[in-house]
Amino acid sequence: MSVVAVLTAAGSGSRLGHALPKALVPLRGEALVVHAARRLLDASGAHGPLLDEIVVTAPAEHLDAFVVALAATPTEGPGTPSPGPRVRVVAGGATRQASVAAGLAALGAHLDAGTTVLVHDAARPFAPAELVARVVAAVAAGHEAVVPGLPVTDTVKRVGPADAGGAEPVRATVERADLRAVQTPQGFTLGLLRRAHDEAARHAHDESLAATDDAGLVERLGHAVWVVAGDERAAKITTARDLRVAELLGDA
Ligand code: C5P
Repeated sequence: MSVVAVLTAAGSGSRLGHALPKALVPLRGEALVVHAARRLLDASGAHGPLLDEIVVTAPAEHLDAFVVALAATPTEGPGTPSPGPRVRVVAGGATRQASVAAGLAALGAHLDAGTTVLVHDAARPFAPAELVARVVAAVAAGHEAVVPGLPVTDTVKRVGPADAGGAEPVRATVERADLRAVQTPQGFTLGLLRRAHDEAARHAHDESLAATDDAGLVERLGHAVWVVAGDERAAKITTARDLRVAELLGDA
C-alpha cells in the first residue's frame, strides 16, 4: 500500500511573534517542520515504514532554508531498509487550503486514486508516529476520510454579537458529549481528497464555504468522514505560550 503526505508549513506564524516562519522556529533544538517530518517518517506498519514520500509546503521566499533544515531529517527509520521515504519542498499558497492544493499538485498525476494521502500541519510537531499509523490503518481498513479527534473537556457556549463593553450574550450551551476537537494528520484516499479540493477551488469566491480543515471539504461532497482517537501530543502550536509549553513537555 502506498502512503504519501502533504506537510503544510507555509504559514507565517504571526501569532507566534517570531521573526522566522513558524515551521522553522526551533523547538528543543530542531525546527517544528523537522519534528513533524521525522515523526511521519518514523510511522511504521507490519511491513516497515509507511511513508513513501512527503511534500512540504513552504513560504515561497524561504524554500532554500526549508531544504537545508529538512536535509537533516533522516530518510530512514532505525533498522529500516533503504531507500527511505523522500522529502520534497514546494512553494505553498496564500491560504492553508491553497498550500494543500499545491502539495497535491506536486505529488504528481502518476499516483493511483487509491493511494493513501495524509495532510499534516508542521504546527503539530509532536504528533507521534503511533497516531500517524492509526490514521493510515483506518484508511487502509476502508474509511476513505479519517481525522484524529479528542473529546472536548471545556463547556462550550454559542454566543451572539458583543455589547459595547465587549461582553457576549450566551445563546446556548452546546452538548459536548458528541463533540471532538480535530487534529492532524488527516488521512484520505488521494482520489477523494483531489475531488474535494477541485470542488472547493470552484467555490473559492464564496467565503461562507471556506473550510478550516481538509475533512471539511470532503464533508461538503456529502462523503462520510470518520474520527479515530487523537493524541494530546499532537497539540497545535499557535502562540508563544504554546511553544513554551511544548519546549517544557517535549513529546512526553
Ligand atoms: O496558521 P495555522 O497555524 O492555522 O496554520 C496551520 C498549518 O497550515 C501550519 O502548519 C501552517 O504552516 C500551514 N499553512 C500553510 N499555508 C498557508 C497558511 C498556513 O501551509 N498559507
